[in-house]
Amino acid sequence: MSAPNNQYDPVEVTPLHPDEVARMRHEALAAIAAASTLEELKQVRLAHAGDRSPLALANREIGALPPSARADAGKRVGGARREVGEALKQRQAELEEERDARVLVEEAVDVTLPTGRLPQGGRHPVTTVAERMADIFVGMGFEVVEGPEVEAEWYNFDALNFLPDHPARTMQDTFFVESPSGGESGLVLRTHTSPVQVRALLERDLPVYVVAPGKTFRTDELDATHTPVFHQLEGLVVDEGITMGHLKGAIDEFVHGMFGSGLATRFRPSYFPFTEPSAEVDMECFVCRGASVGDPANPCRTCSSEGWIEVGGCGVVNPRVLTAAGVDTDRYSGWAFGLGVERTLMFARGVEDMRDMVEGDVRFTSAFGMEI
Ligand code: DAH
Repeated sequence: MSAPNNQYDPVEVTPLHPDEVARMRHEALAAIAAASTLEELKQVRLAHAGDRSPLALANREIGALPPSARADAGKRVGGARREVGEALKQRQAELEEERDARVLVEEAVDVTLPTGRLPQGGRHPVTTVAERMADIFVGMGFEVVEGPEVEAEWYNFDALNFLPDHPARTMQDTFFVESPSGGESGLVLRTHTSPVQVRALLERDLPVYVVAPGKTFRTDELDATHTPVFHQLEGLVVDEGITMGHLKGAIDEFVHGMFGSGLATRFRPSYFPFTEPSAEVDMECFVCRGASVGDPANPCRTCSSEGWIEVGGCGVVNPRVLTAAGVDTDRYSGWAFGLGVERTLMFARGVEDMRDMVEGDVRFTSAFGMEI
């Protein structure tokens, strides 16, 4: 290192000349003021306050000055550097504030804007109502079982005590399945869910408490009150000491769970080959509660002013059915019921036309929301 040069007058060393220092300071401050982005300011910092900036280089020259001249030059250069440093800090803060404000505007999310979301759709009300119906029985301790939609004639008819010449077999309301060779296959599209009774008895140990929801088929034309594909909820209880009183209690529980508490139910004598005795189940009209009966001035559309609504069929399981399923009829007895799902939907949800249920129009389905 060379010794300090006592001959030098600081003013003679160009970078330390007051005018020169003032120029560097001025240039730096002007550049800082002109920097309009943080990136530009970074370049300005490098150029005017970095190790190789004019002021930094001037600062280095101070060491070469005679001691007497150092203080003066140091003050000048140091002052300028401090001022530049302050200006940088201030401009940095300003630009950061500007950037933050801009980001808030540019990246703002308008949570009130409508979205391009795809509609979710909805589960079909026939499905959700069938589940609710089954749930009421699950609440009473029943299990849910299923059977095939293409069913052996034996299960659909024979085991249920439909004699071979029973009109239900031959009348045009059964879809018979052809065998591949064109002859009889012994299979039908099940006309009701009652064959699941026989399957449950053959597959399960006693006692049996089951409900079987499912699709059923009949050769009906589609109109406001008929559809060739519809749904039923079958119920079956086989246990020791079972009476029709238990059946009445279970049906009451269903009607109250589905349509509201306090509604009366009644059994009307009927006939089904697989039950003896058999009954049709009616419930009190939940709209007029019978008030429309004999009052033409206040007709009820729900029950056609009958005061009662039919909800299904039921009865004590015919011992012939139990025998076909290998149940000891000296020890066990039971009852069964079959409820219409579409009918329940029509009444419980005010659907008036069967066609609305099968056409698959989402405007109908989604009106029921996403009930699960
Ligand atoms: N299977 C009958 C039908 O489709 C309904 C029915 C009636 C079911 C009485 C039953 C019952 O279990 O006991 O019309």
